Amino acid sequence: SGESGDSEGETYTVATDNNFVPFEFMDEESGEMQGFDIDLIKAVADEAGFNVEIESMKFDGVVAGMQSGRYDIGIAGMTITEERKETIDFSDPYYDAGLILAVDASNEEITSEEDLAGKKVGTRSGTTSETYISENHPDAELITFPGIVEAYMDLESGRLDAVMYDVPNVKYYVNNDAEGTLKTAGDTLQGEQYGIAFPKDSELVEDVNEALQTLIDNGTYDDIYEEWFGE
Ligand code: ARG
Repeated sequence: SGESGDSEGETYTVATDNNFVPFEFMDEESGEMQGFDIDLIKAVADEAGFNVEIESMKFDGVVAGMQSGRYDIGIAGMTITEERKETIDFSDPYYDAGLILAVDASNEEITSEEDLAGKKVGTRSGTTSETYISENHPDAELITFPGIVEAYMDLESGRLDAVMYDVPNVKYYVNNDAEGTLKTAGDTLQGEQYGIAFPKDSELVEDVNEALQTLIDNGTYDDIYEEWFGE
């Protein structure tokens, strides 16, 4: 956990995931969480005049932590869905994402989602990819993992035929951590938008939306975006 901010305001707890490059991941040197989401929530807090204490956990824990009200804020590349909106509040969207397939760099057989029948397809449990595969590809063999890196590793070792996950994470992993061994297959499958999450009826939603808009208008959002995604 790490504290941030020097304003006189309240301190709020922020739940984040422990490994979702480049949105949130552990910086081995400092032992602190870093990434796009971390920079964004710190900038939002500065703008809105509160402090944040960041705690990393499994993604399912972030969702559950919002539902139980255990944490004040959640930021974890979380897709705004109608189903989640029944139990969680969201800020305005802050990032356009989507789902995509990754396969072995030498795989010529799977070129789109049309080729998934009978294939072993991995993803992380509790995510929109899990829902997408079970709803759209009942003839694929869905295998869920507690962390996505385990799925990527099983793909690299040939135990899986494909992994489905969020476009920015797949692309970042393919380009930085699996260069030459994995590639994306096909187009973006389902457009999604990430939102900052809150327990239902949180009074913070409005302040956070206002701060988010200011950061977009004054260029801070673009600076953070460029730092993690280039250009
Ligand atoms: N966007 C997807 C979802 O909301 C996956 C998010 C995974 N995030 C993470 N921090 N591991 O279900």
